Amino acid sequence: MCGIVGYVGDRPCRDLLIAGLEKLEYRGYDSAGVSVISDGEIDSVRAVGNLANLRAALAEHVSGNGGVAVAAPPATIGVAHTRWATHGRVTEENAHPHGDCEDKIHIVLNGIVENHAELRKELQAEGHEFSSETDAEIVSHLIERHYHGDLAEAVRGAFGELRGHYAFVAMHLDHGETLVAARKECPLIVGLGGEENFVASAIPAFLAETRRVLTIENGELVTVTPEGATITDAEGHPVSRQEDEVTWDEDAAEKGGYPTFMKKEIYEQADAVAETITDRLPGLDGVDLSGVALDDEFLRNAERLMIVACGTSYHAGLVGRYAIEQWARVPVGMDIASEYRYREPVSRPNDLVVGITQSGETADTLAAMRLARDGGSKVLAITNIMGSQATRDADAVLFTRAGLEIGVAATKTFVSQVAAMYLLALRIAELRGTLPPERISELIAEIKRLPSKIDETLANVDRRAAAIARSHKDQRFFLYLGRHIGLPICLEGALKLKEISYIPADAYAAGEMKHGPIALLDEDTPVVCVATDSPVLDKVLSNVEEVRARGADVIAVATEGSDRVAEVADQTLFVPRSDWMLQPILAILPLQLLAYYIARENGLNVDQPRNLAKTVTVE
Ligand code: AGP
Repeated sequence: MCGIVGYVGDRPCRDLLIAGLEKLEYRGYDSAGVSVISDGEIDSVRAVGNLANLRAALAEHVSGNGGVAVAAPPATIGVAHTRWATHGRVTEENAHPHGDCEDKIHIVLNGIVENHAELRKELQAEGHEFSSETDAEIVSHLIERHYHGDLAEAVRGAFGELRGHYAFVAMHLDHGETLVAARKECPLIVGLGGEENFVASAIPAFLAETRRVLTIENGELVTVTPEGATITDAEGHPVSRQEDEVTWDEDAAEKGGYPTFMKKEIYEQADAVAETITDRLPGLDGVDLSGVALDDEFLRNAERLMIVACGTSYHAGLVGRYAIEQWARVPVGMDIASEYRYREPVSRPNDLVVGITQSGETADTLAAMRLARDGGSKVLAITNIMGSQATRDADAVLFTRAGLEIGVAATKTFVSQVAAMYLLALRIAELRGTLPPERISELIAEIKRLPSKIDETLANVDRRAAAIARSHKDQRFFLYLGRHIGLPICLEGALKLKEISYIPADAYAAGEMKHGPIALLDEDTPVVCVATDSPVLDKVLSNVEEVRARGADVIAVATEGSDRVAEVADQTLFVPRSDWMLQPILAILPLQLLAYYIARENGLNVDQPRNLAKTVTVE
């Protein structure tokens, strides 16, 4: 999740753009850059690392009498970017803004261009030369392909050829008073000023300058000049839009208008899954993991998979295990990394060991990965952070793309990890022919629908979860029950409650209940039951009856339309229907919200809970 900001107006824009980037730092980044048009030329400065590095590069540029700083007259139009690398290493060449062949068009982009590989081939065949490894640079060359004097027309032409999940801003040397931006899913906002206007990926980028905003909707383009902003649809038809007034304070701004980072990140889960799957599911007939350095032959013949991880990442691995065994029919071992590393595990050359770690720095998981590698196994890291230690300790890396997660309690990284596990499971199934092609296409179609179903779920259950939390905030123990692919979701739901509300909770395989934990139940013990549609739903329902018979207060998560669950539960939170193996990504959402609201009701700091760190680098 990159940060983009553009300015056109009557004020020198360098510092305004850098200040805008500073307000977008919370989105996380590994490099940054700025381009301005001044004195008849486009000048650009980019730097790896944080904004201090960009400032230093700018200062150096000044001494090298670059255009950005001291060009007279100072630049009043420019674009800037903070990069969260997804395609291409963390280098200066891959930092934005990116230019076209003649360096007349510069763009900044947030998101992912799904069909970048095929477009790059086409453009190279036409003679375009690329200077970066990124998917984003495609856009500046596509605009160049369509440019015949009208920048807005050229951007619309390029927009028509792009597929993916993105928003970008473009400027052209010959149009010193015009920025043109386009949105496909990723957020895009215009900040309206007097004789000036901003366009950005998030309101904080210009909130210090104006509170008047125009929201650009999905599939729209906007031409921004000092005088105003003109919105059109993808066909060029004008679209009118009411401007809004933003009332957020600085703190809320940093959290994107949400009261906490955790709530913001809960509402970023659709984007996190969309960006993690976008270009890996180019069509419906297969999974493209060509960016992962694991050859098909090895995946086809690996005898066993072993997943090692800690905490929430371990729970994502558990969901992955069910999917890999179910779809790819490969045996999957599972271990908590801090146990794996000390039990002298047997690792074999034909084993694939998967280390899941969002931070990429968790000591136990890294040690487990190294141990497996020293034992001769191939190691795949699934991580959210480019350049993290895990990327160096593994033979191959499958990146999740959730963007920076600030809240200690993992939410968006969890769902993006589960999505990554689905991709891996389907790819192995494809290579081994263990699923008929039509079933693979069916599952891919369902996975592609998950981002919108995540938004739908959050919209449907938020208030209800808050109400249940209000009535249960004083409870001193919760039991979570589930079966099959619902069990990892129970474990994760219980962990969320424990880590942010400090209320003891236990998660159990529902079939295990009668072997002991049922003794924990008494009048009104809240029992959270994951009862989404699955081949074992009948079994789950009989377990619900079992706990109800002992007076428990059952809060169930069920698939919409599943009245049987609502009949036996005290409260039911419904999630949209999807393939039953994919329900975990939806079923966790009400449990995240339940834990969140219980902690908030008890006045707790959900972003920085006691005794916990976001990254556990200690042994
Ligand atoms: C989850 O909410 C916790 N922050 C914690 O359990 C976390 O999942 C665990 O420390 C693993 O972190 P990692 O994914 O960065 O390796």
